[in-house]
Amino acid sequence: MTVIAIDGPSGSGKSTVAKALATQLGWAYLDTGAMYRAAAVWVRRAGALDSPERMPELVRDMPLRISLDPGDQRVFLGDDPVTDVIRSSEVSALVSKVSTVIPVRQVLVARQRELVAERREAGIVVEGRDITTVVAPDAEVRVLIAASPEVRLRRRALDQLGRGDADALAATADEVLRRDRDDATVAEFMAAPPGVTLVDSSDLTVDETVAAVAALLPERA
Ligand code: DC
Repeated sequence: MTVIAIDGPSGSGKSTVAKALATQLGWAYLDTGAMYRAAAVWVRRAGALDSPERMPELVRDMPLRISLDPGDQRVFLGDDPVTDVIRSSEVSALVSKVSTVIPVRQVLVARQRELVAERREAGIVVEGRDITTVVAPDAEVRVLIAASPEVRLRRRALDQLGRGDADALAATADEVLRRDRDDATVAEFMAAPPGVTLVDSSDLTVDETVAAVAALLPERA
């Protein structure tokens, strides 16, 4: 029935907004970043972080299980829960090594398209970096959530360290800014392409941002 595709850089608030929107609508929610993070953990376990040529096959065989319930964001590799480890700063720092390998992206994009197709009828909110352009360019709603670098740094620092002081900002600067630079080499998510609505969340609350995206839904949805 309906797909809402949301892209944006880290700290833009897109995950919070996507999850809140899915909860509000009673729809499924797919966090594609969690898939890249799980892939990084899987590749690291295989000792292949510096062997990009081994990665596509490894990721193809990855026994990933990801919940599509916005209220229950658990992720497993086989029976092994990796929900917390994929969010660690260690994994945040190394995930681009895997997510910038194009054949890895092709494997994960194919899986993401399958998951979206399965849930399309009931409604799904999908978020990432290339959802509006590659994974679901035919989505009914396509949004890029942006925010100024200062705001993004502050949100990440508060999120991860519980503080927004200068030290905390410096500690998250690499994660946010360097990672966005790396990620931007393989997906365009800093400027809205034609057909994608830009929502700047810098001066908006979460509720206001959710409302701005929900307002883009076609009447009947
Ligand atoms: O949104 P996040 O921080 O959880 O994303 C984790 C990493 O995965 C990040 O480095 C960007 C990458 N990613 C991507 O390349 N394409 C996506 N659709 C989602 C995430």
